[in-house]
Amino acid sequence: MGSHYRRFVQKEGVPLYEGSYLEKLATLPLADWERRGGKAAYTRLGNYENVNLQIVEIPQKGELRPERHMYEAVMYVMSGTGATTIWQEGESKRTIEWGEGALLAIPLNAWHQEFNSSGDKPCRILFGTNMAQVINLYHNLDFVFNNPFVFKDRYSYSFEKDYVDKSKHWNTRLFETNFIPDIRTFVLDSWKERGTRTSIMRLYMGNGSSQIHILEVSEGTYVTAHRHGPGAHVIVVGGEGYEYLFMPGDEMNPDKRQKVPVKPYAVISPKLNEYHQHFNTGRGPFRQLAFKGWDQSPATITSRGEYDPMGAARSDNPHAYAFKLRYDKEDSSIREEYYRELEKNGVSLRLEPIDQGPA
Ligand SMILES: [Fe+2]
Repeated sequence: MGSHYRRFVQKEGVPLYEGSYLEKLATLPLADWERRGGKAAYTRLGNYENVNLQIVEIPQKGELRPERHMYEAVMYVMSGTGATTIWQEGESKRTIEWGEGALLAIPLNAWHQEFNSSGDKPCRILFGTNMAQVINLYHNLDFVFNNPFVFKDRYSYSFEKDYVDKSKHWNTRLFETNFIPDIRTFVLDSWKERGTRTSIMRLYMGNGSSQIHILEVSEGTYVTAHRHGPGAHVIVVGGEGYEYLFMPGDEMNPDKRQKVPVKPYAVISPKLNEYHQHFNTGRGPFRQLAFKGWDQSPATITSRGEYDPMGAARSDNPHAYAFKLRYDKEDSSIREEYYRELEKNGVSLRLEPIDQGPA
């Protein structure tokens, strides 16, 4: 029994992974997937059913069967090369070629089909989706996967011009796009409020409602621990380090802190109010892709009366739903340990004094 989402995954006949952390999506065991071919697994991370990941392997020289669905999906490529063909009734087919690092939005309820062009190797992709939320909401798979409604405002919008030319850097830290060929090298905007050596780009994709961003923490730097609602999925796409996970009340208790190694392609999805803290211990930057959710509008009105589409997500916003633990309030053993980890790798500490906002 359990939720409609759980029952759906059971029917799919593939594994469902739970917890707050998975070490390696690129080698996570999958099972044969009857519905589309290939192999697949699903996640139910952070003890929450809103965002979920669908991890998929396309066999060598193979393809998946086409599908369409009433949930949004953004595809990321973990290994191999291939292509996705996208179409909608009454409009022409488009094919987008991809390789590792590519991020592609599938317009809502548009048909899509993936092909492997890697020659003699399987390729592995993942979809960040709000499938769990949508299946639980309607609990009718025919409605979700066999719905004739045509969203002109999604597909036509996405393909009105060339899929890639649609991209636009709107303002600081916000980028509209349907496809990024490699998010591992994509240029981000600096984000002083989170530390002078942190950069980010929020993505507005496929005229959808997903909240996605790419965040980079530079060499010799770690971010403050913070906590918020459940649902965010952070996928490490570059660099290496570790992550601390702990619950409120355990801030000063090293025995209660869960320390996990992170490098591509680990995923962290904290539970409600579970603190999480990223530490970059490698040479070079540490970069992550975050599917933040589909459930909470971050929009706010600023003190100047302006509409801010991402206001609540900004950590300098006093009404932000994210709570952070300032450096000067954290257990001193956290920083001492970080020094030692950096020393082991021959990296020097580069933290700079920053304005951390209200205490
Ligand atoms: Fe977070």
